[in-house]
Amino acid sequence: MNQYKNLFESIEINGLTLENRLVMTPMGTNFGEQNGEMSFLHMDYYERRVQGGYELMIVENACVKYPEGSNGTTQLRIDADNYIPRLYKLCETIHQYGAKIAIQLNHAGASALESRIGMQPVSASNLPNKECGAIPRKLSVEEIYSIADDYATSAKRAQTIGFDAIEIHAGHSYLISQFLSPLTNDRTDEFGGNIENRARFAKIL
Ligand SMILES: Cc1cc2nc3c(=O)[nH]c(=O)nc-3n(C[C@H](O)[C@H](O)[C@H](O)COP(=O)(O)O)c2cc1C
Repeated sequence: MNQYKNLFESIEINGLTLENRLVMTPMGTNFGEQNGEMSFLHMDYYERRVQGGYELMIVENACVKYPEGSNGTTQLRIDADNYIPRLYKLCETIHQYGAKIAIQLNHAGASALESRIGMQPVSASNLPNKECGAIPRKLSVEEIYSIADDYATSAKRAQTIGFDAIEIHAGHSYLISQFLSPLTNDRTDEFGGNIENRARFAKIL
């Protein structure tokens, strides 16, 4: 246990104080309702997990722009106010255990399935993000700023609901990582080219 001596030490992250460093990372559960709301099974699941002693629970990735940014039929959504009541209830439950709660924000980009979202998926460029993946539609600069606003609106909503933090999903080949990687970003404007430009989308969020 000596090698984990910091695990039970408190830590401050940008004004958020955690009493220990036991964090549950976000994990998609498929427990959401078809309309993107939390189900009661879902809430029970998170309550059971916090009983394990986590100091910070990070709720699985939630969609900031529907349908184009969606990555599953049972994915949580946080892009509209009707999702507030059940997420509020979840925060209240987790806080009763003295733990903190965050939610992960995501836009799936080219990982969204055309058959599910009813439109061509969008991305940094018209390059598929996986072998045999569909060709996405390259976003205009105006659309990029509009999606950044969707992240901001969802983050504000999360704060209003009572979440202590948000996490931005920048991995797993979703939209932000599609901008970051030269394999899926061949833009020649300020959002492509060198790493600074490819990281610009993440930085304007
Ligand atoms: C079923 C499943 C769903 C996951 N969903 C997410 C997710 O929504 N967001 C995310 O950033 N990581 C997700 N992950 C990755 C986990 O948060 C974690 O980083 C990964 O499982 C590595 O940690 P481990 O070695 O403790 O399993 C998921 C992992 C699994 C197994």
